[in-house]
Amino acid sequence: MTKVQIPMTNMPSIPTIICPDQSALAEALCEKFLYLAQNAVPGPLTVALSGGSTPKRFYERLAQVPYLEKIPWTRVEFFFGDERAVPPEHADSNYRMAHEALLQKVPSKVHRMEAEPGRAGEYEQLVRARVPAGNKGLPRFDLILLGIGTDGHTASLFPGTAALEEKGKLVVMNEVPQLNTRRMTFTFPLINVAKKVWVLAPGKEKREVVQACLKNADAPYPIARIKPEPGELLWWLDRESAF
Ligand code: 6PG
Repeated sequence: MTKVQIPMTNMPSIPTIICPDQSALAEALCEKFLYLAQNAVPGPLTVALSGGSTPKRFYERLAQVPYLEKIPWTRVEFFFGDERAVPPEHADSNYRMAHEALLQKVPSKVHRMEAEPGRAGEYEQLVRARVPAGNKGLPRFDLILLGIGTDGHTASLFPGTAALEEKGKLVVMNEVPQLNTRRMTFTFPLINVAKKVWVLAPGKEKREVVQACLKNADAPYPIARIKPEPGELLWWLDRESAF
């Protein structure tokens, strides 16, 4: 399998990895994830999963050989970066998608977000208890996976919603009027202290918002406020969104 990483002519303001298509993207993500898991010292590797549809192919690939056999799954601990206010068996549940694609096939510890009763404070306490703190005294995830909406939202940090302005809490319930719903979500203070943040943004429907963010690191979108410091930010693109 040749992995093509296409050099950008006009260097973007954000570090990117560009793969030819979503299949190659999933493979490249798996390779990097394998490396992180094998080198997590002392471990466990703390990982917050993204919801939506984009990461499903990645999760499904991780559950196949060689990754299923090579990754030290008992040294990986999974959390969720956001969740819809639905039960785990609901078709809209991020937990259900990840459970079916990967989590039911591996022996990792998994912490579901109980968004339906809205227990954001409890989830924050769980994160503070399980994820080692960095020098700012906040829990520093080894890896947080994020998606991006065509409106520039990420996790459940939607344009114009209250959670965008949260400076103290790490996990909140967020009213999302544009979807007529509420969701549980990590906030910027938690995401931006992570060691690594990967934004998965392939596909032609994401091209416009991706291009706007690559051209302007301060584009008027919630995703543009993802600036881990001193952590590493990496956007994962394919040809359809990168050019
Ligand atoms: C969610 C996600 C959300 C998602 C984007 C992109 O709960 O839906 O956390 O932020 O990543 O909406 O969704 P797609 O991958 O389906 O385009």
